[in-house]
Order: sequence, then structure tokens, then C-alpha cells
Amino acid sequence: MAKTEKVTLQGNRQWLYTAVPEGKLTTDIFKLQEIDVPEPGPGEVLFRNLYLNIMPGNRAYMMMPDVMQAGRPMTSLAVGEVVASNDPGFAQGDVVEAFAPWQDFAVMPAQALTKRDGGHPVEHYMGLLGQTGYTAYFGFLHAGQPRAGETVLVSAAAGGVGSLVVQLAKLSGCRVVGIAGGREKCAWLERELGIDATIDYKAGNLDGQLKETCPEGVDLFFDNVGGPVLEAALDAMKFGGRIILCGNASQYDSDQPMVGPKGVPLTVILKNLTMRGFPYGAYSQLFSEAERNLWKWVQEGRIKPFYHVIEGLEQAPDGLVALLNGSNRGMAMVRV
Ligand SMILES: NC(=O)c1ccc[n+]([C@@H]2O[C@H](COP(=O)([O-])OP(=O)(O)OC[C@H]3O[C@@H](n4cnc5c(N)ncnc54)[C@H](OP(=O)(O)O)[C@@H]3O)[C@@H](O)[C@H]2O)c1
Repeated sequence: MAKTEKVTLQGNRQWLYTAVPEGKLTTDIFKLQEIDVPEPGPGEVLFRNLYLNIMPGNRAYMMMPDVMQAGRPMTSLAVGEVVASNDPGFAQGDVVEAFAPWQDFAVMPAQALTKRDGGHPVEHYMGLLGQTGYTAYFGFLHAGQPRAGETVLVSAAAGGVGSLVVQLAKLSGCRVVGIAGGREKCAWLERELGIDATIDYKAGNLDGQLKETCPEGVDLFFDNVGGPVLEAALDAMKFGGRIILCGNASQYDSDQPMVGPKGVPLTVILKNLTMRGFPYGAYSQLFSEAERNLWKWVQEGRIKPFYHVIEGLEQAPDGLVALLNGSNRGMAMVRV
């Protein structure tokens, strides 16, 4: 094995994904096992996972057989450190990002890895300067095109993407209303993010709460959850309003997602609304712009990344189930 002399490779735990969930995700479909530390072949890289992404998309992927197959290791976005490399593009100690198996050590072909510059604390590559940060940055600023003075509504506002979008909206001079599950999460948004108003969708009367917090209607809705929240928000939009469809988190943890929402297409037509989806990867040519600006705003104290860190690879399935039930404030990740 190349260049491993200085590293002690002790044990390798792996989470297997054993069966497609029926209904809500439970941890019994995961199985923890010990495997050998794999040897990198020609053109391959051995790395140690440092952080794993815990996100609603993990659950959505389970319903997509071309992405995740039962009987294989559980996978997600991960940030790791190269232990040994048989590819000239990677060296021991490099920080890398990959869609990787949930295990301590993994081997992947070099072309499946992205090298990060390593100039920031490593957790930021999993959060602010990774998928979550880029999704908020491009979805809100590029796709959403906010204007100062607009009323912006954000769903899953206390989550990873949502908590950043709330701050980017404040930075853009908008009035920001956040939707979250529970009074405590709403209080967190008010206390930590200085949001203008909140809606607790679990308290019911969503239509009434939308009218109360957005009396003149919503200019721009950044939607992370879809489902009944999107349905209610359609009625709260101003004529000519824009809806950015970021995700459908309310519908992933089910084998029978809701059809709809009501109001598409008629409310969209009558209110002259624009609904726009985006995959953050479509902006890959501009990732360095996002990294530069997001980091600058952090340094200037204008935004703050909030991380919900779950300690230990052994806790990863519990962390994912808890996330789907709304346990997190900010960006969820497992520190391996
Ligand atoms: N377009 C893209 O390229 C892209 C990339 C990455 C992620 N995404 C999407 O972005 C969204 C946010 O991702 P994230 O990683 O930041 O996750 P997150 O918002 O941190 O976590 C998901 C949140 O969804 C909320 N939720 C769960 N069930 C709900 C329900 N039935 N109704 C309303 N809210 C519910 C929960 O908050 P409450 O406690 O408030 O319910 C939970 O905390 C997801 O939909 C994800 O798929 C899109």
C-alpha cells in the first residue's frame, strides 16, 4: 500500500443499508459491521471519512434504485482526508469530498473524488462551503433574485439550507418570515437569526398565520418542504410573485408521497406566479464565487453557519431518522 507508513489504520466500521423502507424510516434497516481497511488499486485513493452529510435527500435516494440499492453500504456526501493514493492527483493529507460509503475508511477511484483546498476548518466543506451553503447561495441569490424591501417566506427555515437563506435574505434587505416546526424552533429563529416573523406550521391554521405575518402577501417564497406548506403558501403569494422550489422534504419520508399541490396550475396562472426549481450542481462553474462570498460574509460577521453535529459514525442512522423528524437547527452532519 502506498504512503501509509505514518497512519495507524485501526478497524473499519461500515453501515449497510439492508432494505428499502416501508413508510417512515427506522434504524432497523441499517446494520453495522466490521470490514477490512481496503487497499487502493491503480488509480484509486484510500481516505478516512471525517464528516458525513445527514440530509433529507438521503431518504429520497432510498426510493431511487439507480442511486441506492439495498444490500449495499449506506452512502452520502462525505468529506475526508487522503490516507494513501495511487493517483498522481492526490496525496496523503489532501481534503477530499465524495459521495462515499458510511464507513471509517473507503477506497474510491480518483475521478469520483473532488479535492478541496484545505484552507478552512474541515467542517465548513460539509456545511457552509459545500452542498448546503451552495444550495442556499445559488437557489436564493441566483435563482431567486431577491430585491431589497421584498417579503421573503422560507420553509424549513431553521434547517441547514433554510437558516442560511434566512440570513442571505436579511443581507439582501428583505423582510423575512420563516416557517418551522414548533414554538421552540421559531424562538430560535427569532433569537439567533433576528428573523422578522415566524410561523409554527405544527400549531395549525397555516392560512391564518400566513395572513397575519404577510398581510400584503409574499414576493418570494423559498420552499424546502413542498406538500401542504407549499399548498398554503400559493394562496399567500402576491400577484407576480416567485417561488423557488428547493426541495420536497415533507414528502421524502414516505412510500406514498402526496400528489399535488392544489393550486397548480390554476393559482399559478391567475396570480401570474413563477415557480422555478434548481439543482445546485447546475452552478458548478460558479462554486468559487459562492465560496469567496460566503466566507467573506462570515468573516465580516454578516452571516453565521450553524452546525448540528452528531458525534460518531455509530450514531449516523439515529441522526438521519431524527433529522427527518425535525431534530436539527442548522446544517446536520456526522463527525465520524
Ligand atoms: N435543489 C438542490 O440542489 C438541493 C440541494 C440540497 C438540498 N436540497 C433540499 O433542501 C431542503 C433542505 O435540506 P437540508 O439538508 O437543509 O435539510 P433541513 O432543512 O436541515 O432538514 C429538513 C427539515 O425539514 C423539515 N420538515 C420535515 N418534515 C416536514 C414536514 N412534513 N413539513 C414541513 N417541514 C418538514 C424539518 O424541520 P421542521 O422541524 O421545521 O419541520 C427538518 O428539520 C431539502 O428539501 C433538500 O432536499 C435541495
